[in-house]
Amino acid sequence: MDLFEYQARELFAKHQVPVLPAVVVTEPEQALEAAASLPQGLLVVKAQVKTGGRGKAGGVKLAHSPQEALEHTRAIHGMDIKGHKVHRVMIAAAADIAEEYYFSLLLDRSNRQYLAMCSREGGMEIETLAAQRPEALAKLGIDPLEGFTEQKAAELLAAAGFSGEEAEAIVPVLLRLGEVFEAEDATLVEVNPLVKTPSGEIIALDGKVTLDDNAAFRHPEHAELVVKEDADPLELRAKEAGLNYVRLEGEVGIIGNGAGLVMSTLDVVAYAGQEHGVRPANFLDIGGGASAEVMAAGLEIILGDPQVRSVFVNVFGGITACDAVAQGIVRALELLGEAATKPLVVRLDGNNVEAGRAILAQANHPLVSVVETMDGAAALAAAKAK
Ligand SMILES: Nc1ncnc2c1ncn2[C@@H]1O[C@H](COP(=O)(O)OP(=O)(O)OP(=O)(O)O)[C@@H](O)[C@H]1O
Ligand SMILES: [Mg+2]
Repeated sequence: MDLFEYQARELFAKHQVPVLPAVVVTEPEQALEAAASLPQGLLVVKAQVKTGGRGKAGGVKLAHSPQEALEHTRAIHGMDIKGHKVHRVMIAAAADIAEEYYFSLLLDRSNRQYLAMCSREGGMEIETLAAQRPEALAKLGIDPLEGFTEQKAAELLAAAGFSGEEAEAIVPVLLRLGEVFEAEDATLVEVNPLVKTPSGEIIALDGKVTLDDNAAFRHPEHAELVVKEDADPLELRAKEAGLNYVRLEGEVGIIGNGAGLVMSTLDVVAYAGQEHGVRPANFLDIGGGASAEVMAAGLEIILGDPQVRSVFVNVFGGITACDAVAQGIVRALELLGEAATKPLVVRLDGNNVEAGRAILAQANHPLVSVVETMDGAAALAAAKAK
């Protein structure tokens, strides 16, 4: 899960990373009071969107008074930044900036390690810096078992061209950012810019954090970071039901068991759909041991998507055999009753396939067609979605 800057800032503060006072507003009318609650002085008004380059898009503005902060908030709220609508605006105390640096720590999957990066030339987009002046960006691989230690932080800073007292002042801030990365189970912690003030203080002025969803079970407190109005309502419901669901743009709903099978089902439906101008509407993996209730929950979510015109249920019977899955489908349709309105194409294979097909044949539900092959089922589902 990617966090908003204001959420990253809260995690930074929790781990004693120096940040400036800030408040978030969801309505422009709250801006005046919010700005007045901050220490007097220069303010900065920042769009909260999960995309980069806000500054260039006009989403970061300095304000000399709460009144001006209100005006900027009005201008920024509702703005569209690279397809992200601004629902939240952060008003923060402005820093006096002497220098802007760059720091990040991320999970480097392909090398099975962490990667720490640092540059004296922060502020600008790091992709641009990496492309134009790669020598200005220091990179250091970190052994995850060892962690981002004081020695590694010092090594990284030296490679980036910091020395002496300057480096000494930054090391503790980097270590705290390393603590955010590890303690919060992040896959990315990026600060651009990390600034030095004229008096030599080091402050994180921006923050980008991605949390590892696989570690969510260790962090019940992270559930609060999910901003409901920004999430797709169907994806939220699926998450609550413990389903692995991603909504897509198409018309053919897809349910399968196992991520690999669902992925290949998307492929065959995309292929079969070309002829009819239809595409897969979602990814939904109900997992290995799917019960009737899980099948019902999955069907309910897919049928709740107004874009869906047909559903392809593609199940390979394994530990949960095809007869159990077929019973699940029949009971799911009973549970849904009149809520089930769209044609269902079912393809079963694997363990106890004959018994499974027999159960569906006997139920003889008017919405259900059983097709033996995956390609055949995809073609029929696509045709029914037309
Ligand atoms: N609190 C602050 N005080 C003073 N200047 C700030 C403050 N926050 C940001 N700035 C200035 O605005 C610039 C852009 O801010 P920031 O890095 O947060 O946004 P961005 O880089 O445009 O967006 P993104 O990081 O999403 O790409 C910073 O490089 C810094 O010069
Ligand atoms: Mg930035």
